[in-house]
Amino acid sequence: MTQTEKPEVAVKETPLVPIEKIVSLCKRRGFVYPNSEIYGGVSGIYDFGPLGVELRNNIRRFWWWSMVQTNDNVVGIEGSIITHPRVWEASGHVENFVDQLVDCKKCKRRFRLDHLPEENREQNRCPECGGELTEPRKFNLMMETYIGVVEGDKMKTYLRGEACQNIYLDYDNVLKSSRMQIPFGICQIGKAFRNEVTPGNFLFRQREFEQWDLQFFTHPSQMSQWFEHWKEQRFAWYKSLINHKDRLRLRPHGPDELAHYAKQAFDVEYQTILGWQEWEGVHWRQDWDLSRHSQYSGQDLGYTDPETKEHYIPWIVETSGGVDRTFLNLLLDAYEEEPDPNGKEPRTVLHLNPWIAPVKVAVLPLQKNKPELVETAKNLYKQLQRVMVAQYDDISNIGRRYRRQDEIGTPFCITIDFTTLEDQTVTVRERDGMTQIRLPLDEVKRYLLERVTWNY
Ligand code: GAP
Repeated sequence: MTQTEKPEVAVKETPLVPIEKIVSLCKRRGFVYPNSEIYGGVSGIYDFGPLGVELRNNIRRFWWWSMVQTNDNVVGIEGSIITHPRVWEASGHVENFVDQLVDCKKCKRRFRLDHLPEENREQNRCPECGGELTEPRKFNLMMETYIGVVEGDKMKTYLRGEACQNIYLDYDNVLKSSRMQIPFGICQIGKAFRNEVTPGNFLFRQREFEQWDLQFFTHPSQMSQWFEHWKEQRFAWYKSLINHKDRLRLRPHGPDELAHYAKQAFDVEYQTILGWQEWEGVHWRQDWDLSRHSQYSGQDLGYTDPETKEHYIPWIVETSGGVDRTFLNLLLDAYEEEPDPNGKEPRTVLHLNPWIAPVKVAVLPLQKNKPELVETAKNLYKQLQRVMVAQYDDISNIGRRYRRQDEIGTPFCITIDFTTLEDQTVTVRERDGMTQIRLPLDEVKRYLLERVTWNY
Protein backbone atom coordinates (compact mmCIF):
# COMPACT_ATOMS: atom_id res chain seq x y z
CA MET A 1 0.00 0.00 0.00
CA THR A 2 1.41 3.44 -0.84
CA GLN A 3 1.07 6.69 1.07
CA THR A 4 -1.82 7.88 -1.08
CA GLU A 5 -3.76 4.64 -0.78
CA LYS A 6 -4.23 4.80 2.97
CA PRO A 7 -7.61 3.94 4.48
CA GLU A 8 -9.60 7.08 5.27
CA VAL A 9 -10.98 7.56 8.76
CA ALA A 10 -14.62 8.70 9.00
CA VAL A 11 -14.65 12.44 9.83
CA LYS A 12 -17.27 14.30 11.77
CA GLU A 13 -17.34 18.01 12.48
CA THR A 14 -16.22 18.12 16.10
CA PRO A 15 -15.41 21.20 18.20
CA LEU A 16 -11.79 22.21 18.86
CA VAL A 17 -10.57 20.16 21.81
CA PRO A 18 -9.35 21.89 25.00
CA ILE A 19 -5.70 21.00 25.71
CA GLU A 20 -6.66 20.01 29.28
CA LYS A 21 -8.68 17.06 27.94
CA ILE A 22 -5.57 15.71 26.21
CA VAL A 23 -3.33 16.37 29.25
CA SER A 24 -5.75 14.42 31.42
CA LEU A 25 -6.11 11.51 28.98
CA CYS A 26 -2.33 11.34 28.52
CA LYS A 27 -1.69 11.08 32.26
CA ARG A 28 -4.60 8.72 32.96
CA ARG A 29 -3.77 6.24 30.20
CA GLY A 30 0.03 6.42 30.25
CA PHE A 31 0.87 8.53 27.20
CA VAL A 32 2.70 11.46 28.86
CA TYR A 33 3.78 12.27 32.42
CA PRO A 34 5.18 15.52 33.84
CA ASN A 35 8.95 15.12 34.29
CA SER A 36 10.31 14.73 37.89
CA GLU A 37 6.76 14.94 39.18
CA ILE A 38 7.63 13.67 42.67
CA TYR A 39 9.93 16.71 43.05
CA GLY A 40 7.33 19.16 41.85
CA GLY A 41 8.12 18.86 38.13
CA VAL A 42 10.15 21.00 35.71
CA SER A 43 8.26 23.38 33.50
CA GLY A 44 8.42 22.51 29.79
CA ILE A 45 9.88 18.99 30.21
CA TYR A 46 7.88 15.73 29.89
CA ASP A 47 8.31 11.96 29.95
CA PHE A 48 6.49 9.50 27.71
CA GLY A 49 4.72 6.47 29.20
CA PRO A 50 4.02 2.97 27.78
CA LEU A 51 1.43 4.11 25.22
CA GLY A 52 3.20 7.40 24.51
CA VAL A 53 6.41 5.69 23.51
CA GLU A 54 4.53 3.39 21.08
CA LEU A 55 2.72 6.34 19.47
CA ARG A 56 5.94 8.32 19.26
CA ASN A 57 7.85 5.44 17.70
CA ASN A 58 5.13 4.95 15.09
CA ILE A 59 5.16 8.66 14.21
CA ARG A 60 8.95 8.64 13.90
CA ARG A 61 9.01 5.45 11.84
CA PHE A 62 6.36 6.71 9.42
CA TRP A 63 8.31 9.94 8.89
CA TRP A 64 11.55 8.01 8.33
CA TRP A 65 9.85 5.63 5.89
CA SER A 66 8.32 8.53 3.93
CA MET A 67 11.44 10.68 3.88
CA VAL A 68 14.45 8.34 3.84
CA GLN A 69 13.40 4.84 2.92
CA THR A 70 11.26 5.73 -0.10
CA ASN A 71 13.33 8.59 -1.57
CA ASP A 72 16.34 7.49 -3.60
CA ASN A 73 18.06 10.85 -3.18
CA VAL A 74 17.77 11.06 0.64
CA VAL A 75 19.84 9.37 3.36
CA GLY A 76 19.73 9.53 7.16
CA ILE A 77 22.15 10.24 10.00
CA GLU A 78 22.02 10.47 13.78
CA GLY A 79 24.22 13.19 15.22
CA SER A 80 25.20 14.03 18.79
CA ILE A 81 23.48 16.50 21.09
CA ILE A 82 26.76 18.13 22.13
CA THR A 83 29.09 19.61 19.51
CA HIS A 84 32.10 21.91 19.38
CA PRO A 85 31.02 25.36 20.68
CA ARG A 86 32.23 27.07 17.49
CA VAL A 87 29.33 25.37 15.69
CA TRP A 88 26.91 27.70 17.47
CA GLU A 89 28.97 30.79 16.69
CA ALA A 90 29.05 29.83 13.02
CA SER A 91 25.33 29.01 12.97
CA GLY A 92 24.53 32.46 14.35
CA HIS A 93 22.78 31.09 17.43
CA VAL A 94 25.13 32.62 20.00
CA GLU A 95 24.49 36.05 18.53
CA ASN A 96 20.98 35.82 17.12
CA PHE A 97 19.02 33.10 18.90
CA VAL A 98 17.41 35.53 21.30
CA ASP A 99 13.98 36.51 22.52
CA GLN A 100 13.24 40.09 23.50
CA LEU A 101 11.78 40.17 27.00
CA VAL A 102 9.92 42.80 28.98
CA ASP A 103 9.01 42.74 32.68
CA CYS A 104 6.03 44.38 34.32
CA LYS A 105 7.27 46.84 36.94
CA LYS A 106 4.08 46.34 38.97
CA CYS A 107 3.10 42.62 38.93
CA LYS A 108 6.65 41.44 37.99
CA ARG A 109 5.34 39.12 35.24
CA ARG A 110 7.65 38.53 32.26
CA PHE A 111 6.56 38.48 28.61
CA ARG A 112 8.07 37.84 25.20
CA LEU A 113 7.81 41.12 23.31
CA ASP A 114 6.62 39.34 20.15
CA HIS A 115 3.84 37.58 22.11
CA LEU A 116 2.36 40.83 23.49
CA PRO A 117 -0.88 42.10 21.94
CA GLU A 118 -0.23 45.00 19.55
CA GLU A 119 -2.04 47.46 21.80
CA ASN A 120 0.04 46.60 24.89
CA ARG A 121 3.25 46.85 22.88
CA GLU A 122 2.32 50.31 21.62
CA GLN A 123 1.26 51.61 25.04
CA ASN A 124 4.08 49.78 26.89
CA ARG A 125 1.49 48.34 29.29
CA CYS A 126 1.24 44.92 30.97
CA PRO A 127 -1.58 42.78 29.49
CA GLU A 128 -2.35 41.35 32.97
CA CYS A 129 -2.44 44.36 35.31
CA GLY A 130 -1.89 47.42 33.09
CA GLY A 131 1.42 48.23 34.85
CA GLU A 132 4.34 49.87 33.04
CA LEU A 133 6.74 47.54 31.18
CA THR A 134 10.56 47.71 31.27
CA GLU A 135 12.68 48.32 28.17
CA PRO A 136 13.11 45.09 26.12
CA ARG A 137 16.14 42.98 27.05
CA LYS A 138 17.73 40.23 24.96
CA PHE A 139 17.65 36.68 26.34
CA ASN A 140 19.59 33.88 24.62
CA LEU A 141 17.74 30.56 24.34
CA MET A 142 20.78 28.28 24.11
CA MET A 143 21.29 25.87 27.04
CA GLU A 144 24.87 25.88 28.27
CA THR A 145 26.87 22.90 29.42
CA TYR A 146 30.54 22.13 30.16
CA ILE A 147 32.89 19.43 28.84
CA GLY A 148 35.95 18.26 30.82
CA VAL A 149 36.80 17.21 34.36
CA VAL A 150 39.44 19.70 35.48
CA GLU A 151 37.97 22.78 37.15
CA GLY A 152 39.07 25.94 35.30
CA ASP A 153 39.91 23.89 32.21
CA LYS A 154 36.39 23.01 31.19
CA MET A 155 35.08 23.92 27.75
CA LYS A 156 31.77 25.72 27.68
CA THR A 157 29.46 24.48 24.96
CA TYR A 158 25.73 24.11 24.31
CA LEU A 159 23.05 21.47 24.08
CA ARG A 160 21.98 21.81 20.47
CA GLY A 161 19.34 24.49 19.95
CA GLU A 162 18.29 22.97 16.63
CA ALA A 163 18.99 19.42 15.60
CA CYS A 164 19.86 20.23 11.98
CA GLN A 165 23.38 21.59 12.62
CA ASN A 166 24.77 18.03 12.73
CA ILE A 167 23.63 17.59 9.15
CA TYR A 168 25.83 20.47 7.94
CA LEU A 169 28.72 19.15 10.04
CA ASP A 170 28.38 15.66 8.51
CA TYR A 171 27.43 16.79 4.99
CA ASP A 172 30.97 16.41 3.61
CA ASN A 173 31.44 13.00 5.28
CA VAL A 174 28.16 11.77 3.80
CA LEU A 175 29.20 12.98 0.34
CA LYS A 176 32.55 11.21 0.59
CA SER A 177 31.26 7.98 2.16
CA SER A 178 28.09 7.41 0.13
CA ARG A 179 27.24 7.59 -3.55
CA MET A 180 25.18 10.74 -3.16
CA GLN A 181 25.55 13.58 -5.64
CA ILE A 182 23.83 16.93 -5.66
CA PRO A 183 20.83 17.25 -5.57
CA PHE A 184 20.39 15.10 -2.48
CA GLY A 185 19.10 15.31 1.08
CA ILE A 186 20.08 14.24 4.59
CA CYS A 187 17.49 13.51 7.28
CA GLN A 188 17.71 13.27 11.02
CA ILE A 189 15.42 12.92 14.02
CA GLY A 190 16.81 14.18 17.31
CA LYS A 191 16.42 16.14 20.49
CA ALA A 192 16.83 19.91 20.69
CA PHE A 193 16.98 22.13 23.75
CA ARG A 194 15.83 25.72 24.21
CA ASN A 195 15.61 27.81 27.31
CA GLU A 196 12.12 28.90 26.29
CA VAL A 197 11.00 31.93 28.27
CA THR A 198 7.38 30.93 28.22
CA PRO A 199 7.13 27.12 27.87
CA GLY A 200 3.55 25.97 27.95
CA ASN A 201 0.49 24.49 26.34
CA PHE A 202 1.66 21.00 27.23
CA LEU A 203 3.90 19.57 24.47
CA PHE A 204 3.48 22.59 22.22
CA ARG A 205 6.34 24.69 23.60
CA GLN A 206 8.87 22.72 25.63
CA ARG A 207 12.46 23.18 26.74
CA GLU A 208 13.52 19.68 25.66
CA PHE A 209 11.83 18.43 22.50
CA GLU A 210 12.47 16.42 19.36
CA GLN A 211 12.76 17.67 15.80
CA TRP A 212 12.79 15.98 12.43
CA ASP A 213 14.73 17.64 9.66
CA LEU A 214 15.41 17.26 6.01
CA GLN A 215 18.26 19.37 4.65
CA PHE A 216 18.21 19.17 0.88
CA PHE A 217 21.33 20.32 -0.99
CA THR A 218 20.92 21.72 -4.48
CA HIS A 219 22.56 23.82 -7.18
CA PRO A 220 21.37 27.46 -6.77
CA SER A 221 19.66 27.33 -10.19
CA GLN A 222 17.39 24.48 -8.95
CA MET A 223 16.59 25.96 -5.56
CA SER A 224 13.16 27.26 -6.47
CA GLN A 225 12.05 23.94 -7.95
CA TRP A 226 13.17 21.90 -4.90
CA PHE A 227 11.69 24.43 -2.47
CA GLU A 228 8.28 23.99 -4.17
CA HIS A 229 8.68 20.22 -4.29
CA TRP A 230 9.38 19.80 -0.56
CA LYS A 231 6.79 22.37 0.47
CA GLU A 232 4.11 20.37 -1.36
CA GLN A 233 5.40 17.00 -0.13
CA ARG A 234 5.43 18.01 3.49
CA PHE A 235 1.99 19.60 3.35
CA ALA A 236 0.57 16.42 1.76
CA TRP A 237 2.32 14.26 4.38
CA TYR A 238 0.62 16.03 7.29
CA LYS A 239 -2.69 16.05 5.45
CA SER A 240 -2.49 12.27 5.01
CA LEU A 241 -2.38 11.78 8.78
CA ILE A 242 -5.20 14.01 10.02
CA ASN A 243 -9.00 13.76 10.04
CA HIS A 244 -9.79 17.49 9.97
CA LYS A 245 -8.18 18.43 6.64
CA ASP A 246 -9.67 21.96 6.78
CA ARG A 247 -7.59 22.68 9.89
CA LEU A 248 -4.32 22.52 7.95
CA ARG A 249 -2.82 25.33 5.86
CA LEU A 250 0.46 26.65 4.43
CA ARG A 251 1.34 30.21 5.38
CA PRO A 252 4.23 32.30 4.02
CA HIS A 253 6.36 34.18 6.57
CA GLY A 254 6.33 37.96 6.49
CA PRO A 255 9.77 39.68 6.28
CA ASP A 256 9.72 40.50 10.03
CA GLU A 257 9.15 36.82 10.98
CA LEU A 258 12.05 35.24 9.10
CA ALA A 259 14.70 33.43 11.18
CA HIS A 260 18.26 34.78 10.82
CA TYR A 261 19.19 31.99 8.39
CA ALA A 262 16.10 32.12 6.13
CA LYS A 263 15.53 34.14 2.96
CA GLN A 264 11.98 32.77 2.54
CA ALA A 265 9.84 30.46 4.65
CA PHE A 266 6.46 28.77 4.82
CA ASP A 267 4.86 27.24 7.89
CA VAL A 268 2.61 24.23 7.77
CA GLU A 269 0.04 25.36 10.31
CA TYR A 270 -2.67 23.47 12.18
CA GLN A 271 -5.68 25.01 13.84
CA THR A 272 -6.33 24.01 17.45
CA ILE A 273 -7.87 25.69 20.45
CA LEU A 274 -4.62 27.77 20.52
CA GLY A 275 -5.46 29.20 17.07
CA TRP A 276 -3.43 28.62 13.90
CA GLN A 277 0.03 27.50 15.00
CA GLU A 278 3.24 26.33 13.32
CA TRP A 279 3.62 22.58 12.94
CA GLU A 280 6.57 22.50 10.56
CA GLY A 281 8.75 25.14 8.89
CA VAL A 282 9.94 24.95 5.28
CA HIS A 283 12.94 27.26 4.99
CA TRP A 284 14.94 28.63 2.06
CA ARG A 285 18.33 28.59 3.87
CA GLN A 286 20.29 29.29 0.70
CA ASP A 287 24.09 29.04 1.29
CA TRP A 288 23.99 30.44 4.84
CA ASP A 289 24.96 27.25 6.68
CA LEU A 290 27.69 25.79 4.49
CA SER A 291 29.25 29.22 3.87
CA ARG A 292 29.34 30.02 7.58
CA HIS A 293 30.77 26.61 8.54
CA SER A 294 33.37 26.93 5.75
CA GLN A 295 34.34 30.35 7.06
CA TYR A 296 34.47 29.38 10.76
CA SER A 297 36.17 25.98 10.33
CA GLY A 298 38.55 26.93 7.51
CA GLN A 299 37.38 23.82 5.57
CA ASP A 300 36.06 24.19 2.04
CA LEU A 301 32.52 22.80 2.11
CA GLY A 302 31.95 23.60 -1.55
CA TYR A 303 30.92 20.97 -4.09
CA THR A 304 32.57 20.24 -7.43
CA ASP A 305 30.15 19.03 -10.07
CA PRO A 306 31.66 15.79 -11.47
CA GLU A 307 30.59 16.63 -15.02
CA THR A 308 30.86 20.41 -15.41
CA LYS A 309 33.65 20.79 -12.78
CA GLU A 310 31.83 23.87 -11.49
CA HIS A 311 32.73 24.48 -7.83
CA TYR A 312 30.03 26.09 -5.68
CA ILE A 313 28.46 26.20 -2.22
CA PRO A 314 25.21 24.21 -2.42
CA TRP A 315 21.99 25.91 -1.41
CA ILE A 316 19.71 24.30 1.14
CA VAL A 317 15.97 23.67 1.45
CA GLU A 318 15.07 22.77 5.02
CA THR A 319 11.89 21.09 6.25
CA SER A 320 11.92 21.10 10.04
CA GLY A 321 9.07 19.83 12.21
CA GLY A 322 8.49 18.67 15.75
CA VAL A 323 7.86 15.09 16.86
CA ASP A 324 6.18 16.37 20.04
CA ARG A 325 4.03 18.88 18.20
CA THR A 326 2.98 16.08 15.84
CA PHE A 327 2.15 13.90 18.84
CA LEU A 328 0.02 16.68 20.37
CA ASN A 329 -1.68 17.76 17.14
CA LEU A 330 -2.58 14.20 16.19
CA LEU A 331 -4.18 13.63 19.60
CA LEU A 332 -6.09 16.93 19.34
CA ASP A 333 -7.20 15.96 15.84
CA ALA A 334 -8.28 12.45 16.90
CA TYR A 335 -10.05 13.14 20.21
CA GLU A 336 -13.81 12.97 20.39
CA GLU A 337 -16.38 12.65 23.14
CA GLU A 338 -19.19 11.00 21.23
CA PRO A 339 -22.68 11.36 22.78
CA ASP A 340 -24.34 8.04 23.62
CA PRO A 341 -27.66 7.53 21.74
CA ASN A 342 -29.14 5.95 24.89
CA GLY A 343 -28.20 8.87 27.10
CA LYS A 344 -25.42 7.01 28.91
CA GLU A 345 -21.88 8.35 29.42
CA PRO A 346 -20.32 9.73 26.21
CA ARG A 347 -17.83 7.48 24.44
CA THR A 348 -14.31 8.94 24.48
CA VAL A 349 -12.56 7.83 21.33
CA LEU A 350 -9.27 8.59 19.61
CA HIS A 351 -9.82 8.41 15.84
CA LEU A 352 -6.10 7.92 15.24
CA ASN A 353 -4.94 6.70 11.87
CA PRO A 354 -4.49 2.90 12.41
CA TRP A 355 -0.93 3.19 11.07
CA ILE A 356 0.20 5.24 14.02
CA ALA A 357 -2.21 4.06 16.76
CA PRO A 358 -0.13 2.83 19.71
CA VAL A 359 -2.00 -0.46 20.13
CA LYS A 360 -3.24 -2.11 16.93
CA VAL A 361 -5.51 -4.79 18.34
CA ALA A 362 -7.00 -6.04 21.60
CA VAL A 363 -7.90 -9.70 22.01
CA LEU A 364 -10.83 -10.26 24.37
CA PRO A 365 -12.25 -13.59 25.58
CA LEU A 366 -15.98 -13.10 26.16
CA GLN A 367 -15.68 -14.62 29.63
CA LYS A 368 -12.53 -15.12 31.64
CA ASN A 369 -13.79 -18.12 33.60
CA LYS A 370 -14.19 -20.36 30.52
CA PRO A 371 -10.81 -22.06 29.89
CA GLU A 372 -11.65 -22.93 26.25
CA LEU A 373 -12.28 -19.24 25.43
CA VAL A 374 -9.18 -18.10 27.32
CA GLU A 375 -6.93 -20.63 25.62
CA THR A 376 -8.08 -19.69 22.11
CA ALA A 377 -7.82 -15.98 22.92
CA LYS A 378 -4.31 -16.31 24.38
CA ASN A 379 -3.13 -18.33 21.37
CA LEU A 380 -4.37 -15.66 18.98
CA TYR A 381 -2.90 -12.89 21.13
CA LYS A 382 0.52 -14.57 21.17
CA GLN A 383 0.41 -14.98 17.39
CA LEU A 384 -0.54 -11.31 16.78
CA GLN A 385 1.91 -9.92 19.36
CA ARG A 386 4.84 -11.06 17.19
CA VAL A 387 3.84 -8.79 14.31
CA MET A 388 2.04 -5.81 15.93
CA VAL A 389 1.47 -4.20 19.31
CA ALA A 390 -1.45 -6.13 20.83
CA GLN A 391 -3.17 -6.23 24.21
CA TYR A 392 -4.97 -9.05 25.98
CA ASP A 393 -7.83 -7.94 28.23
CA ASP A 394 -10.26 -10.08 30.21
CA ILE A 395 -11.17 -7.60 32.98
CA SER A 396 -14.84 -6.46 33.26
CA ASN A 397 -17.68 -6.76 30.74
CA ILE A 398 -17.10 -6.61 27.00
CA GLY A 399 -18.69 -3.14 26.60
CA ARG A 400 -16.29 -1.61 29.10
CA ARG A 401 -13.35 -3.31 27.45
CA TYR A 402 -14.33 -1.83 24.08
CA ARG A 403 -14.54 1.62 25.68
CA ARG A 404 -11.08 1.25 27.25
CA GLN A 405 -9.63 0.47 23.84
CA ASP A 406 -11.56 3.28 22.09
CA GLU A 407 -10.08 5.78 24.52
CA ILE A 408 -6.51 4.87 23.51
CA GLY A 409 -7.32 4.65 19.79
CA THR A 410 -7.04 0.86 19.26
CA PRO A 411 -8.51 0.38 15.77
CA PHE A 412 -9.64 -3.25 16.19
CA CYS A 413 -10.89 -5.56 18.95
CA ILE A 414 -11.20 -9.32 18.43
CA THR A 415 -13.71 -11.13 20.61
CA ILE A 416 -13.50 -14.87 21.17
CA ASP A 417 -16.98 -16.17 21.99
CA PHE A 418 -18.85 -19.46 22.10
CA THR A 419 -19.44 -19.46 18.33
CA THR A 420 -15.63 -19.42 17.94
CA LEU A 421 -15.48 -22.79 19.64
CA GLU A 422 -18.04 -24.17 17.19
CA ASP A 423 -16.90 -22.75 13.84
CA GLN A 424 -13.45 -21.17 14.43
CA THR A 425 -14.65 -17.65 13.58
CA VAL A 426 -14.20 -14.49 15.70
CA THR A 427 -15.91 -11.10 16.01
CA VAL A 428 -13.82 -8.22 14.62
CA ARG A 429 -15.06 -4.92 16.02
CA GLU A 430 -13.87 -1.70 14.39
CA ARG A 431 -13.33 1.44 16.50
CA ASP A 432 -14.79 4.37 14.51
CA GLY A 433 -18.09 2.96 13.24
CA MET A 434 -18.29 0.25 15.96
CA THR A 435 -19.24 -2.16 13.17
CA GLN A 436 -18.71 -5.88 13.69
CA ILE A 437 -17.95 -8.67 11.24
CA ARG A 438 -17.13 -12.34 11.66
CA LEU A 439 -13.87 -13.65 10.29
CA PRO A 440 -12.21 -17.10 10.30
CA LEU A 441 -9.53 -17.26 13.00
CA ASP A 442 -6.80 -18.04 10.50
CA GLU A 443 -7.55 -14.92 8.45
CA VAL A 444 -7.29 -12.44 11.35
CA LYS A 445 -3.56 -11.75 11.12
CA ARG A 446 -3.58 -10.87 7.43
CA TYR A 447 -6.80 -8.86 7.76
CA LEU A 448 -5.23 -6.72 10.49
CA LEU A 449 -1.81 -6.34 8.89
CA GLU A 450 -3.41 -4.94 5.74
CA ARG A 451 -5.17 -2.28 7.78
CA VAL A 452 -2.72 -1.29 10.50
CA THR A 453 0.55 -1.21 8.54
CA TRP A 454 1.39 1.46 5.98
CA ASN A 455 3.83 -0.70 4.02
CA TYR A 456 2.22 -4.15 4.12
N1 GAP B 1 16.16 24.14 12.11
C1 GAP B 1 15.06 25.02 12.02
C2 GAP B 1 14.30 25.13 13.25
O1 GAP B 1 14.70 24.69 14.30
P1 GAP B 1 12.05 26.02 14.22
O2 GAP B 1 10.87 26.59 13.50
O3 GAP B 1 12.63 26.80 15.33
O4 GAP B 1 13.11 25.76 13.07
C3 GAP B 1 11.18 23.57 13.87
O5 GAP B 1 11.68 24.58 14.74
C4 GAP B 1 10.03 22.81 14.53
O6 GAP B 1 10.40 22.35 15.82
C5 GAP B 1 8.78 23.68 14.77
O7 GAP B 1 7.99 23.73 13.61
C6 GAP B 1 8.10 22.89 15.89
O8 GAP B 1 7.33 21.83 15.38
C7 GAP B 1 9.28 22.34 16.67
N2 GAP B 1 9.58 23.17 17.85
C8 GAP B 1 10.29 24.34 17.87
N3 GAP B 1 10.38 24.82 19.12
C9 GAP B 1 9.71 23.94 19.91
C10 GAP B 1 9.45 23.87 21.32
N4 GAP B 1 9.93 24.78 22.17
N5 GAP B 1 8.72 22.82 21.79
C11 GAP B 1 8.24 21.87 20.95
N6 GAP B 1 8.47 21.88 19.63
C12 GAP B 1 9.19 22.89 19.11
